[in-house]
Amino acid sequence: MLKIGHRGAKGYVAENTLASFQKAIDLKVDGIELDVHLSSDGEIMVIHDETIDRTTNGKGFVKDFTSVQLKQFGIPTLTEVLDLMNHDFSVNIELKSNDSVEKVITLIEKYVFENNWNYNNFIISSFLWRNLEVVSQRNNQIKIGVLTEDSIEKALAFAKEIKAFSINPYFKLLNAENVKLMHNEGFQIHTWTVNSSEDITFVKSLPVDGIISDFPDKI
Ligand code: G3P
Ligand code: CA
Repeated sequence: MLKIGHRGAKGYVAENTLASFQKAIDLKVDGIELDVHLSSDGEIMVIHDETIDRTTNGKGFVKDFTSVQLKQFGIPTLTEVLDLMNHDFSVNIELKSNDSVEKVITLIEKYVFENNWNYNNFIISSFLWRNLEVVSQRNNQIKIGVLTEDSIEKALAFAKEIKAFSINPYFKLLNAENVKLMHNEGFQIHTWTVNSSEDITFVKSLPVDGIISDFPDKI
């Protein structure tokens, strides 16, 4: 069962920062999950919201700042995060918008061909399923995680259609029966965001294949 640090180690250090990813490494995770948006100059930035308001002392849309400006607010580029991690980790890149998919695919290909990373190091996930169709058409070696917060049934049907690697459901959607169904269809299950000991015990019992948690050391 993979221990995956949500936005780094969000329970301990400010989310989606280099310090948070370092904390996840220190906590001996198997992988990390992070969120991306594009800057005005087309850099892939690691931030959850479409604005910088909640997580920095600035205000405005990510897409209206250059990468240099965003870095000054403590927001890392995806390249910086990948360079901090190494090939022993898996990185789940969640696409929060529709404009970054091509750039993320190209960056993954660069790390595989030039930096000795393996396709197994990466998963692209999104609630915006159109992005996942693009990934499956552009490069079928990149693993895809179908995110859902409301329907295992729809996620399963779509995962089959695009030959996804995993289904990534909100943990409260899960039960022994639907977990079996997804496993029988050959999908891994990476569930989120599981933080209390009680909930972690529950998803482990199902069982799932990956647990995304703000407190990955509790898994
Ligand atoms: O990838 C799972 C989880 O991160 C999805 O929800 O809002 O934390 O991005 P959110
Ligand atoms: Ca996320």
